[in-house]
Amino acid sequence: MLSHTRSVVYLDDGEIAVVRPDDYRILDLAAVEKEKAVTRVDWDLAKIERGGYAHFMLKEILEQPDSVRNTLRGRLLEEEGTSRMGGLNLSDEDLQKINRVIITACGTSWHSALIGEHMIEELTRVPVEVEYASEFRYRNPIINERTLCIVISQSGETADTLAAMREAKRRGARTLGIVNVVGSTIAREADGGIYLHAGPEIGVASTKAFTSQVIALLLFTLKLGRLRDMSILRGREIIEAMNAIPAQAKQILDRAQEIEDIAEEFKRASNFLYLGRGYNFPAALEGALKLKEISYIHAEGYPAAEMKHGPIALIDEMMPVVFIAPHDSVFDKVTSNVAEVKARKGRVIAITSRDEPSLVGKLDYEFRIPETVDMLTPVLAAVPLQLLAYYIAVKRGSNVDQPRNLAKSVTVE
Ligand code: BG6
Repeated sequence: MLSHTRSVVYLDDGEIAVVRPDDYRILDLAAVEKEKAVTRVDWDLAKIERGGYAHFMLKEILEQPDSVRNTLRGRLLEEEGTSRMGGLNLSDEDLQKINRVIITACGTSWHSALIGEHMIEELTRVPVEVEYASEFRYRNPIINERTLCIVISQSGETADTLAAMREAKRRGARTLGIVNVVGSTIAREADGGIYLHAGPEIGVASTKAFTSQVIALLLFTLKLGRLRDMSILRGREIIEAMNAIPAQAKQILDRAQEIEDIAEEFKRASNFLYLGRGYNFPAALEGALKLKEISYIHAEGYPAAEMKHGPIALIDEMMPVVFIAPHDSVFDKVTSNVAEVKARKGRVIAITSRDEPSLVGKLDYEFRIPETVDMLTPVLAAVPLQLLAYYIAVKRGSNVDQPRNLAKSVTVE
């Protein structure tokens, strides 16, 4: 469309456009004429063209240093150790009144919600629940005017997520949309919003939106935390780590070949297990989802310790097990889980962040990521996980950008 016009009028539900060669009218179902704002789309064509990359998914994985930079731009207040977001539409008083947060989403966005839950509770002490939007909309949730419902959606059009937001609103919650697509329905209907500014995401499997969602959630957490007990020093430490992410992601992408070599070893696998702890349990879920979405290999993500209560039965010399094991506050616990897998001849691929004497001789393959604060480790770990799924899928000849049975946005229930 962009080669014809950049001016867009968004129709809301129940509106009709009557378009003639030289003009248009917008009517509602009662045929009442409506004035609608014209929005200018500022995407440049290069952004939505593959631009010589083999796949949109690869292009979007490689864009992450920039997309994260765009999500951060103009939103960090280093001096105060906090953040500012123009579209929040929540005053400091509103934020201080909140005594409960519900985060709802689908797919990859639900995985970033799990990371958001962890960081908001850790840094603000406000209780958080994460809900699958499709379940939440039919449950009888306890909500009141002091509840903030955060709605995460790359497209801003996912039907279950939109309905969940409308239900939360109907019950009196304030709603905050974390959305990538400007002008989408969720963005227009939420009380306030944080745009990712990650640029168009065309590949069906979400990549750069995930890393930007986690960054956006941390921006919100900084704001809420500094309005409560989080110290300015803690805020500054997190901001310094956020500012380092684009360059660190670039370092990882520069070593993509290492991941491709690992993918070559596992392209014929028929099952995969992804394990992580703390902030990296959701990263394990995301790694497994990426592989499922585009390579059609059955894969499961689990909290590493939970493995002992079932999935360990699946482990033998045929089972690749990916550990997300950066040196964070729960690393020491992960080492025993690695030993349990190794003892059953599982093939271990580990994402680590430093030399670990406790892992010597227990890893079949290792990929190193830079160190960062705990809550940002899933952002850096996501990049090699995305690349592993991508290379395995390409080597299996899958249609990476439009995998079978999937849509970029599920707008029906
Ligand atoms: C699925 C997409 O249809 O919807 C996933 O294939 C995505 O990639 C999920 O994570 C949720 O989409 P959204 O746009 O609401 O984040």
